[in-house]
Amino acid sequence: MATIQLKTPIPGPKSMALAERRRIAVPRGLSIGTPVYVAKAEDAWLEDVDGNRYLDFAGGIGCLNVGHRREPVVAAIKAQLDRFLHTCVQVTPYESYVRLAELMNQATPGKFPKKTLFVNSGAEAVENAVKIARAHTGRSGIIAFEDAFHGRTMMTLALTSKTHPYKAGFAPFPGDVYRIPYAYCYRCSYSLKYPACDLFCARHLEDTFKRVVASEDVAAVIAEPVLGEGGFVVPPKDFFRVLIDICHKHGVLFIADEVQSGFGRTGRLFASEYYGIEPDIVATAKSLGGGLPLAAITGRAEIMDAPGPGGLGGTFAGNPLSCTAGLAVLDIFERENLLDRAKELGERFQKRARQWQKQWPIVGDIRGLGGMQAIELVRSTDKREPAADETKQVTQYCYEHGLITISAGSYSNVVRVLVPLVITNEQMDEGMDVLHSALQMVYERKGAIAQPV
Ligand SMILES: Cc1ncc(COP(=O)(O)O)c(C=O)c1O
Repeated sequence: MATIQLKTPIPGPKSMALAERRRIAVPRGLSIGTPVYVAKAEDAWLEDVDGNRYLDFAGGIGCLNVGHRREPVVAAIKAQLDRFLHTCVQVTPYESYVRLAELMNQATPGKFPKKTLFVNSGAEAVENAVKIARAHTGRSGIIAFEDAFHGRTMMTLALTSKTHPYKAGFAPFPGDVYRIPYAYCYRCSYSLKYPACDLFCARHLEDTFKRVVASEDVAAVIAEPVLGEGGFVVPPKDFFRVLIDICHKHGVLFIADEVQSGFGRTGRLFASEYYGIEPDIVATAKSLGGGLPLAAITGRAEIMDAPGPGGLGGTFAGNPLSCTAGLAVLDIFERENLLDRAKELGERFQKRARQWQKQWPIVGDIRGLGGMQAIELVRSTDKREPAADETKQVTQYCYEHGLITISAGSYSNVVRVLVPLVITNEQMDEGMDVLHSALQMVYERKGAIAQPV
């Protein structure tokens, strides 16, 4: 039986009534992609307040790698509810925090001694990674990338690249942040081609240290191993190795923002493993908490110990419910083959998407690692003009046909797939059938502008 079941025109009457209440009560800055109000969710589907059932290809923006309401996660949270809810770890600590830190120290790339700090969100993890890097190096500069997304707090907005809607109107941002091009080969900032480019973009960091900011003033380079919000861009395999070699030659730390690419999404627990790199600091969040707010900063022990006692923390940071959920998530990854499943899902998606690319030139690029997959839509294959309106039409069509998707990309022309890794093959195919029809609809409607080469 199909998972998608639409019983009312959507949004249904109850969702519409809630949307009106929300319009009055909640600022418009909190935009909503899919205006149906959730009543319940399980594994890879969710049901709205009008009884319509959807397939979830967004997973709460990559927070549900182990699935909605996975039984071990729910059981762990319920057990914790019966023990205690909040003490603040800085006042009276608890074992789950320490145990999860021990496991994170083992699980993140690199065999060296590590330490882990827990906070509440991805942005808070990145903020703390910057604080720790500055405290350790005694330097202030941070180098981030074009197309990067690191969060919505002031420092993370300074590191984030996309202007609208994230940065416009919110300046000034904290200073001493510099930006260099990412290895976005489909839209190379230097108009070069890999491998002939010899990773010019990574090697150019040396030039940045000469012409933009002195290396002795730079604390860290921060990068997403796979761009999330920036459009699921996967750099060539040796990009980060070259970059990190230059960083370390100059005493600059490398921070991997694995907030979106981490926790099994790419077929490895951390995408850094795919490149064979060992970041000095790793920021994780999203799927770590299995649906609860939890983020971590894990790094070399001597770096993590740079801030003095009281320099790090937060009232709710690493709260007991989230830590206990995080332990259950790690246990699921240990017991279930979700990493292999992520790879299978990626292959399944790519196989089908390659057909779409052959059929409809609006599908400009297909890329991803494991379960982190995307298609970039263009108005023409030669000029690669971003097809932002068409992307909106694709996600709208999907939603109207019961598939929840989200877009991405600096040009808002990427459809990204972040399915819970517990999705069945039948559900995956059902979702891709909807995506297929959406692309066909948009291509046929816009056929005149999407010419084959
Ligand atoms: C790579 C990356 N870093 C940081 C963040 C910010 O995380 P949060 O929204 O939990 O603050 C995100 C959120 O999407 C992200 O994708």
